Amino acid sequence: MENTLNLSVDTLTKIDEVVPKYPEKRSAALMVIHLVQDELGSVNDSACEWIAHRLELQPINIKELITFYPMLREKPWGRKHVRVCRTLPCALRGSYGTCKTFEKKLGVKEGHVREDGEYSLEFMECLADCGQGPVVIVDEKTYENIDAKRAENFAELLIDGKLDGSVDFTSYEDSLNQESK
Ligand code: FES
Repeated sequence: MENTLNLSVDTLTKIDEVVPKYPEKRSAALMVIHLVQDELGSVNDSACEWIAHRLELQPINIKELITFYPMLREKPWGRKHVRVCRTLPCALRGSYGTCKTFEKKLGVKEGHVREDGEYSLEFMECLADCGQGPVVIVDEKTYENIDAKRAENFAELLIDGKLDGSVDFTSYEDSLNQESK
């Protein structure tokens, strides 16, 4: 099948490996969408058509999945994507203030991408770390107890490119790595 999306060999190989693992090609749809999104950043109409063709489905069968699941998207997020949990346990600990602070500091409204494409902000349902809210995820790293006050400093470090490795904010994933050393 023609590689009209210019996907890497790595992604094409993963797709070729994952599809035969399912009894029906259709069942592999979510996995294939994730692989395409991981490489392209989003799944637009052309990507939708390509995936549908690969799985012998109609584009609508792929589109309905992309529009249903919040982690899938038709347009790319910013180069840095910030998620803030809005569900009750985090809300009670101040996540609305956290989100407002990020909107102000990063210059982007929640649910949007900043005009220069640098940041996007998403205020979304439970990020599965409910005991340590407000929870914030930047790209793939999870940060805990980020209330509005801490969010100011957090955003400044993010803007300065100093969040990774900062002593004040260690992500959950990095703390696991440190413990295993
Ligand atoms: S309620 Fe915020 S992570 Fe679950």
